[in-house]
Amino acid sequence: MNKIQKITAGKRDFFSPKGRQVDDTTIANVKSILGDLEIRRDLLIEALHKVQDAYGYINASDMAALAEIFRLSQAEVYEVGSFYHHFNIIKEDQEKPFKSKLRICDGLSCEMAGANTLFQKIKEKFKTEKIEVEKVPCIGRCASAPAARFNKEPIDNMDVDKIVEVHRAGMSFALNLPKYETLVDYIGRGGYGIFNKLKTGAIEPEDIIKTVSDANLKGLGGAGFPAGRKWEIVKSFKGPRLMTVNGDEGEPGTFKDRFWLESRPHQMLEGALIAAKIVGCEKIYIYMRDEYPEVLEILKTEIASIEKEKIATIPIEVRRGAGAYICGEESAMIESIEGKRGVPRHRPPYIAEVGLFGKPTLNHNIETLNWLPEIIENGVDWFKNKGWDDKHSGIRSFSVSGRVKNPGVKLTPAGIPLSKLITDYCGGMQDGHILKAFFPGGASGGILPAHLAHLPLDFGTFEKFGGFIGSHAIVVLSDQDNIKDAVLNTMRFFKHESCGQCTPCRSGTDKMIRLLEENNKELELYNALIKVMSDSSICGLGQAASNCVSHLINHFPEEF
Ligand SMILES: Cc1cc2nc3c(=O)[nH]c(=O)nc-3n(C[C@H](O)[C@H](O)[C@H](O)COP(=O)(O)O)c2cc1C
Ligand code: SF4
Ligand code: FES
Repeated sequence: MNKIQKITAGKRDFFSPKGRQVDDTTIANVKSILGDLEIRRDLLIEALHKVQDAYGYINASDMAALAEIFRLSQAEVYEVGSFYHHFNIIKEDQEKPFKSKLRICDGLSCEMAGANTLFQKIKEKFKTEKIEVEKVPCIGRCASAPAARFNKEPIDNMDVDKIVEVHRAGMSFALNLPKYETLVDYIGRGGYGIFNKLKTGAIEPEDIIKTVSDANLKGLGGAGFPAGRKWEIVKSFKGPRLMTVNGDEGEPGTFKDRFWLESRPHQMLEGALIAAKIVGCEKIYIYMRDEYPEVLEILKTEIASIEKEKIATIPIEVRRGAGAYICGEESAMIESIEGKRGVPRHRPPYIAEVGLFGKPTLNHNIETLNWLPEIIENGVDWFKNKGWDDKHSGIRSFSVSGRVKNPGVKLTPAGIPLSKLITDYCGGMQDGHILKAFFPGGASGGILPAHLAHLPLDFGTFEKFGGFIGSHAIVVLSDQDNIKDAVLNTMRFFKHESCGQCTPCRSGTDKMIRLLEENNKELELYNALIKVMSDSSICGLGQAASNCVSHLINHFPEEF
């Protein structure tokens, strides 16, 4: 085909097949953008990224060309591309978005730090510039709220002058890597020693499973499932098996995984290789959020170095997310790695039995893997004794943001109460602020009142209040914050990120926002909606989305 068919109402060109046609030049251009990318169905999202990176958008004829190149239907390519927020899909005759993107976070910690007012000012200031200024959910820089990303350049504690400065210097497309522990540094402190012992048979896999189980290492992606038990379950299913590493870190308020990967990436990689070897996985896929370009670059470089040094015994492939929070849910992440929309799967079967490409799959969060080499090296007691008391095991990395003096990633004993976390690790509350409420586990874990600040921050504590610690993302609110505004911000996030597969979540989040905005006070209506959302949504997003609303009603009735 060498021309685009003109579509006129009621008529068709009888010299061409029906439907949108693709011209040879577009196919050639897209092929050259794809370069040496393998043409495989599961790499469709990477192909979409390449086109988006090249133009700053993907137009309908590029989508059609991708369909032709990947031998897929155009509808299939469109349904995948249109699912992800980082792909700007346009029609041929539509105005082209600018390649330059300024993404301003409007997550809760950033909104509390004035992001919405700044967004208006910046939009006005840059209205004649060739820049797309857009609001985006949490970008994992909440400790320096308000935060933004100007193309590749992260902007912490953002203000108008900072953006003007980066724009004037023309530096926004440059990638500046933080200083991190390289392979040489890691090996210098004994790194990959445990993995070597496992390879040579100097340690038995069963001993490692016992150590990890006795140390009570729990999954730190949010669910807190015991790591050792998960290995035994996945191992019990017949191979070949695969492993996925969840680096999506989209839960608002969470930035601990970025902290680990930007400081000591090899410890996580060694943890992944150990877990994969014990469970018998043939390949590791690391799913990293697109919002972390520095981490993506670090992983690319460091994985290449362990492959070159023949440390890695199985292939490790990194996959880029494309701005969809739901892809942190493990079955949605697997769909995304397969090159599809990130729509959570129905269970059973669980991914441990039927996971990536239909194979039994071991999935772990970055931080869970990060602790493995240290626990195995130092032993059960070393880890257990690091807890706040004998009921809580290990160290945790809390992402703390909001109204504290020194926000950031805090390495503390598991089970520390919030009151201690604030005074001993965060320099106390900001001047003039009194603790009023806190989100214990990002947007999903609910919002609890200050009088619960003495409780241990750990799995199993907040469930009786209808909340949970999840990914250990603590957002601290003060007497100067409005709880209902915080709940609305949270609910708008869930509405934006719902995959739309099930009605209680898709319509429930929208309905809840409308009720709150209308200042509706009918408790029965709220309670019925909360019940249907939490009982009948397919995945954790819809099941947990209403937690903050029930907390608003039960703990902050004066603000409801
Ligand atoms: C909506 C939703 C989002 C999630 N996002 C993440 C995420 O960004 N990173 C993560 O590790 N786990 C996330 N999880 C949890 C994963 O589904 C899964 O439990 C976890 O990756 C397992 O690893 P772990 O056992 O090491 O914690 C999410 C779950 C839900 C329901
Ligand atoms: S609960 Fe929400 S995010 Fe989860 S499957 Fe249903 S619609 Fe999708
Ligand atoms: S970076 Fe803005 S809320 Fe996380």
